[in-house]
Amino acid sequence: MGKFMLLLPLLGAFTLVFFQAQARICMTCNMFMNGRCGEGEGRCTMEEGGACLTMDIYLFRGRDGFLYNHTVLECSKPCQASTESYFHLKISRFCCQSQDFCNRYKGKIANKYAN
Ligand SMILES: *[C@@H]1O[C@H](CO)[C@@H](O)[C@H](O)[C@H]1NC(C)=O
Repeated sequence: MGKFMLLLPLLGAFTLVFFQAQARICMTCNMFMNGRCGEGEGRCTMEEGGACLTMDIYLFRGRDGFLYNHTVLECSKPCQASTESYFHLKISRFCCQSQDFCNRYKGKIANKYAN
């Protein structure tokens, strides 16, 4: 009985550490451009089964086709990589879970620094 009383809080502490390790922080931004957030900067906690999302927004510019405009960062559950085109808008989605704030190194932003 005495041993259990000692073990129980210990177990609770382990569970807490485990779940804290699982929870990632993502960057949020409504308007990410030129390596920094111009509007709506913040952070969100990734939900279980979710991920940090990077959304590159392209606008249709006539003859030039789709040109990159800005990037949106947020948390998403579920998170699915995709590229969708609407009439004047193209959205590319990238998901990541590898590290805190990983979504600020994805998509168009990452390409820019990779080259
Ligand atoms: C495109 O980017 C500009 C800032 O450079 C922003 O003000 C504008 O809202 C963006 N356009 C769209 C459709 O999101």
